[in-house]
Amino acid sequence: MGILDKHAILEKNATLLLVGSFAVVTIGGLVEIAPLFYLENTIEKVEGMRPYTPLELAGRDVYVREGCYVCHSQMIRPMRDEVERYGHYSLAAESMYDHPFQWGSKRTGPDLARVGGRYSDAWHVDHLTNPQSVVPESVMPKYGFLLKARIDGRYIEDEMRTHSVVGVPYSGDMLEQAQRDFAAQADPEADTDGLIERYGDKVQVRNFDGQPGISEMDALVAYLQMLGTLVDFSTFTPDASR
Ligand code: HEC
Repeated sequence: MGILDKHAILEKNATLLLVGSFAVVTIGGLVEIAPLFYLENTIEKVEGMRPYTPLELAGRDVYVREGCYVCHSQMIRPMRDEVERYGHYSLAAESMYDHPFQWGSKRTGPDLARVGGRYSDAWHVDHLTNPQSVVPESVMPKYGFLLKARIDGRYIEDEMRTHSVVGVPYSGDMLEQAQRDFAAQADPEADTDGLIERYGDKVQVRNFDGQPGISEMDALVAYLQMLGTLVDFSTFTPDASR
């Protein structure tokens, strides 16, 4: 019966089936990938995005090193349940300075893309030290040792240089002042004019872990508190034609 019968020829001949499959996958690939080269920009332009400050970048390193991404994604999908729970869906622009990115769908714990500002610093310190003290049924491990792990930002400039190689727009000034900015952000007494001038007035300057000195806890909490806070969604209009 016509064309469907001829399908048997393909099914009985492995080589032909392979060639046929390859042709189909090639066409599918072209249809999906080729248009991306003709779009002017696949990342929407939004206001407010800036590279991570040195302290936040150090916190991000702790986040990656400790494998927080194994249980937490940073990607809010444009579906109603997610948007109602976590806030505006994630924009590509919001992870454009992320190397490596933190997308994903594995969520043993909640999505963290917009956790910034949701809790106090003290809550984060308590929660990271002993999650069950604030959320009794939590299965999250304890990270109290971060309070004792001191850091001084010795290598942060090198790391920022590495990030600029892959396209993060750190200016010469940001690189030169990296170690100073690193220390200033965790010290409410410090002179932060330069830090604010370089990274904008939304930069949060506090003693994040509430103890003297700079610990990995300071860096991690600084990172968590800025997540999802850069883009001002009251001025953002999504462009459906993309
Ligand atoms: C074994 C899986 C697991 C790992 C690893 C893990 N978490 Fe969690 N996390 C959870 C679960 C489950 C919850 C929800 C219960 C709670 O609040 O403790 C949670 C909650 C959180 C919350 C509160 C989110 C909210 O919106 O209420 C934050 C912040 C957080 N985790 C940060 C981290 C950080 C930072 C790390 C790495 C240092 C980490 N988690 C590692 C499982 C994990």
